[in-house]
Amino acid sequence: MSTLGSSSPSSPTAAARPRASRWPARLDLAQSLSGLLLGLFMWGHMFFVSSILFGKDAMWVVSRAFEGYFFFGRAYPGIVAVAVAGVAALIVLHAMLALRKFPSSWRQWQAFSEHRRTLAHGDTTLWWVQVATGFALFFLAAPHLFQMLMHPEAIGPYESADRFWTGRWWPLYLVLLFAVELHGGIGLYRLAVKWHGDAQRRRLQVLKWSLTVFFLVLGLATFAAYLKLGHEHRERAGEIYTPTWAAPGAPR
Ligand code: HEM
Repeated sequence: MSTLGSSSPSSPTAAARPRASRWPARLDLAQSLSGLLLGLFMWGHMFFVSSILFGKDAMWVVSRAFEGYFFFGRAYPGIVAVAVAGVAALIVLHAMLALRKFPSSWRQWQAFSEHRRTLAHGDTTLWWVQVATGFALFFLAAPHLFQMLMHPEAIGPYESADRFWTGRWWPLYLVLLFAVELHGGIGLYRLAVKWHGDAQRRRLQVLKWSLTVFFLVLGLATFAAYLKLGHEHRERAGEIYTPTWAAPGAPR
């Protein structure tokens, strides 16, 4: 039997050796790109949802803008549904690609735990947190996306706040917020280390934690704002918000 590097007549020459498949690299790139797009989407999402911090009118304007109200003169919630479908498809693709990296047997789990203990490297622990939060997101993101897909017209200051409080969605949102911020922050950091090189690792770590803390604080402030509004509005839950200045016949 030939050994690695031997030049025995039985070993294939470089030209005759079957070429290594490019697919693992392509799949890796697709996973990186889909993760990057999702990470950027989540930053945008948190800013738009946090418009409630500037008041009910600000959130109403943002919600209607996504429905094309200021462009077409009337609201088309279907536009939001199409965007939700796109995001959901991207999540499915990203999750399918990520599944390749999950330890899939008890033996692999044991090997990884051993590896993590002996290496005691922060980034190996981060990888583990990313796997755990990614797994949680399989379940946590689905109900939210389904709701947004089926009822895109029910997005607005009162509608969203009523969902938080009266609809009792807040426990899901609280766990989802931590899972997605940790997962996205670690994912973007790992991407930067992978494509940017190791030299900047220390700086990237500081940037990563600053962004994670920033989005968690913003998310929690937003969370508190919806919860407070939903609680205040509980007796009139189901009522739709329209600013007093909006044109007669403005959506809902
Ligand atoms: C295009 C797709 C999406 C749309 C249109 C959307 C829209 C919204 C809206 C309007 C809210 C305010 C609460 C409500 O109305 O129920 C919200 C909250 C939230 N969304 Fe999304 N979302 C989308 C995708 C996602 C994804 C993919 C995730 C995470 C995996 C996510 C995580 C969250 C979290 C954690 C909150 C609570 C925010 C907080 O408490 O600060 N959303 N989303």
